[in-house]
Amino acid sequence: MSHSCRKDKGKSLKENPPVEWENEFMWRIRAERARVKMNPIIEVKGFTKKYGDFAAVKNISFTVDEGSVFAFLGPNGAGKSTTINTLCTIFDKTEGELFIAGKNAHTQKNQVRSAIGVVFQDSTLDKKMTVEENLKMHCVFYKVPKNEVEERITFVLTLVDLLGWRKKTVSALSGGMKRRVEIARGLIHYPKVLFLDEPTTGLDPQTRAHVWEYIFRLQKEKNITIFLTTHYMDEAENCDKVAIMDHGKIIAYDTPFALKKQYTKDRAYITVANPAAFEQSLNREGINYIKKENYHRIDVDDNAKLLQVLAECKDGIKDIEIRKGTLNDVFLEITGREIRDTDNETKTQETQKKQKIKRGRK
Ligand SMILES: Nc1ncnc2c1ncn2[C@@H]1O[C@H](COP(=O)(O)OP(=O)(O)OP(=O)(O)O)[C@@H](O)[C@H]1O
Ligand SMILES: [Mg+2]
Repeated sequence: MSHSCRKDKGKSLKENPPVEWENEFMWRIRAERARVKMNPIIEVKGFTKKYGDFAAVKNISFTVDEGSVFAFLGPNGAGKSTTINTLCTIFDKTEGELFIAGKNAHTQKNQVRSAIGVVFQDSTLDKKMTVEENLKMHCVFYKVPKNEVEERITFVLTLVDLLGWRKKTVSALSGGMKRRVEIARGLIHYPKVLFLDEPTTGLDPQTRAHVWEYIFRLQKEKNITIFLTTHYMDEAENCDKVAIMDHGKIIAYDTPFALKKQYTKDRAYITVANPAAFEQSLNREGINYIKKENYHRIDVDDNAKLLQVLAECKDGIKDIEIRKGTLNDVFLEITGREIRDTDNETKTQETQKKQKIKRGRK
C-alpha cells in the first residue's frame, strides 16, 4: 500500500506515518539490533581438547554476541564443561584459538580472568564460612579495591535477593540459595562475561525458575553476557542463541526459534465426533495423519490446509491440542535419539547415587 492510498489521510504524520517510513523505521531498528548484537565477545575457532588420546571436544567454532544469553546444550559427556573450563583458562587447549573480549585464553590468561566470572558445575563455596566471608575472599583474589568491598557485596547480594543472608553460614542455606551466592560471587569483580556451568542442575522447578529470573535480569539490566550450559532443553528456549553439542561436536547453532523452525513441525492432536468424515477431508487435502484410539495425530506441514479441514469439521471437533516443536525435538531430529538416552539415564542415576552418598557423609 502506498502512502497516498491510505484511508486516514488527514491525520498528522506522527499519528499516521507513511507505510514506507514504517518499513524503513522497522528495518533500521532491526539493522541496529543486528549491529549491536553482532559484536562478538567470545570467539572460538577450531577448538579441540584432548585428554590423553581421547578428544572430548573436536574442532568446534562459534561466537557469542556481547550482551546476549548463550546456552551450550548437550547430554552428559558432550564436552560442555571442557569448553567452559578452557574458555575460563582452567584447562589448556589442544588446538585452536579462544578469545574473550579480544584477549587470548591461552596467552593472556590474566586479562581473560579479570573479564569473566565463573560459576562451576560443582559448588566451590566454603560451607563453613559465612556468605559475606566467601564474597570477601573472592574480592581479595580479584584485587577489588578495599574501599569498594562493602558496597559491592551489598550490590551483588541485592541482585540475587540474599542481602538478609549475608551473615549466615553457607551450610545453613538451601541448594538454590547457595547457587545464587555463587552467582553473586561470580559478579563481584564486575565481569563482562559470566559463565554458568549447569546453574540449575539439582534444583526444584521453582528455584530453577528463580535462578533464570536472575540470569535474565543480569543480562537486561547490566548487559552482562551470559554463557551457560544445561542439559535441560526447555531452559534454553528463552536464550538468544544456543549451540547444541554432542560427542564433542556442535551439531546445531542458531536461535531457538530458527532451530525449531528448521528441524521441527507443530504436532496437532485432534479428537472429532465423526472420524470418517474428518479422514475424508484430510485425505482430500493430502494431509498425513496417524489414527489413535481417541484422536488423530498430525505433523503439520501446511497450516492453511489443516485450517481448511478444521473449518469444514468445526462442529464435530471435540478436542484440539497443538504442540509446538521443542529443542528436544531438534536434538532428536538431528541425532535420531532422545537427549536422555539409556547411557545418560545410567550416568544420571550414578550421579544421583554419588550425590546421595556425599550427602550421607555430611
Ligand atoms: N579430566 C578429564 N580426564 C579425562 N577425561 C575427561 C576429563 N574431563 C572430562 N573428560 C571426558 O570428556 C568428555 C566430556 O566431558 P565434559 O565434562 O566436558 O562433558 P559435559 O558436557 O560437561 O557433561 P555433563 O553434562 O555430564 O556435565 C566426557 O567423555 C568425559 O568423561
Ligand atoms: Mg559438565
